[in-house]
Amino acid sequence: MNNFTFWNPTKLIFGKEQLEKLKSEIPQYGSKVLVVYGGGSIKKNGLYGKVMNELKEIDATVFELSGVEPNPRVSSVRKGAEICKSEGIDFILAVGGGSVIDCTKAIAGAAKYDGDAWDMVKNKVRVTEAIPFGTVLTLAATGSEMNSGAVITNWETHEKLSWGSPAVFPKFSILDPENTYSVPRDQTIYGIVDMMSHVFEHYFHLEENTLFQDRMCESLLITIMETAPKLLDDLESYEHRATILYSGTMALNGMLNMGYNGDWATHNVEHAVSAVYDIPHGGGLAILFPNWMKHALHVKPERFKQLAVRVFNVNPQGKSDEEVALEGIEHLRSFWNSIDAPSTLADYNIDDSKLEEMADKATYNGPFGRFMMLEKEDVLSIYRASL
Ligand code: NZQ
Ligand code: ZN
Repeated sequence: MNNFTFWNPTKLIFGKEQLEKLKSEIPQYGSKVLVVYGGGSIKKNGLYGKVMNELKEIDATVFELSGVEPNPRVSSVRKGAEICKSEGIDFILAVGGGSVIDCTKAIAGAAKYDGDAWDMVKNKVRVTEAIPFGTVLTLAATGSEMNSGAVITNWETHEKLSWGSPAVFPKFSILDPENTYSVPRDQTIYGIVDMMSHVFEHYFHLEENTLFQDRMCESLLITIMETAPKLLDDLESYEHRATILYSGTMALNGMLNMGYNGDWATHNVEHAVSAVYDIPHGGGLAILFPNWMKHALHVKPERFKQLAVRVFNVNPQGKSDEEVALEGIEHLRSFWNSIDAPSTLADYNIDDSKLEEMADKATYNGPFGRFMMLEKEDVLSIYRASL
């Protein structure tokens, strides 16, 4: 286990009827509030009206940025940063899923950054100042509500890049499972795949002696897999929405990976696909992750075996580590198939015509991945296996 410092300043406010906490939280930071949201789901499900009522009660001066895209664009970041600068915004409230929250993080940083928002993202500028912001999460998936990372797309150049800074942890995040009732079945599935993938990204590392961390990862995976089918049978179950919502946050808020760094190559491999084809992040991961696993299995088969035995209940007797590991990967594929996640690039009508372009994008900064370093040829081979 490596030395580590754990610091996560986001106040997590979880449960029913917690929206009223906006009234006590926001005035700590300001009264000129920019509300950022997506393509209209919060208007359809009534959350928009509830948020506005809370803001009225504290006499906030409200500005709005709507229409933030799934896979949020830097053009939206620029718009938001411009409003912040011209109107003297002192607090931003993100109401939405990971895309709205990521866009808000980049707005918060770009508004205080002396330069273009894309330069900030592309050069991974770790801004030290940002406009404070909070979130009302509406979709369980990314963990963005309790971390300091964001993923922003430049649609002109077809680049999708991650960026972050300790200055862009949300001040608070309100997680009411009822606000996720209206998440459609497909987005619910993508969210489940995404949070499981975050656990896998942590799990495949090369450190020794991460006994407790391994067990935490495994228990989270088991919990998500037990709950997912029940939730998909009953999308308005408070209990199942709550379990999945909490799981998504825990999968990527720093709690699982103290003392080691996970691999994170598959996310990069997926972002290059989304950058070219604009597919949902979780859908891309469902296709790519099992193929990354097969590709990287040889690096440390015992790690894959441990996952197979402990999480997928594979019986190891009389089998080699590789055989057990492969069985585990097949169980994962079957589980994702069973919840109707996509399994091949063809599910998104993606053929082999742009594999080179995607592999170039993925390796733009050179080889990547901590468990297994991927070169362009490795990325291509994962894409080919995913066709
Ligand atoms: O835009 P609206 O109308 O809000 O609709 C959204 C969107 O169409 C809809 N939705 C959200 N909440 C809803 C709802 N529909 C009905 N009822 C609700 N309560 O769902 C669609 C997808 O939303 P989006 O925010 O894009 O999904 P998600 O939370 O999965 O975020 C995906 C983005 O996050 C990035 C991904 O790359 C992608 O760009 N990631 C961010 C990470 C982070 N910051 O830590 C880590 C992740 O690995 C990921 O890369
Ligand atoms: Zn992800």
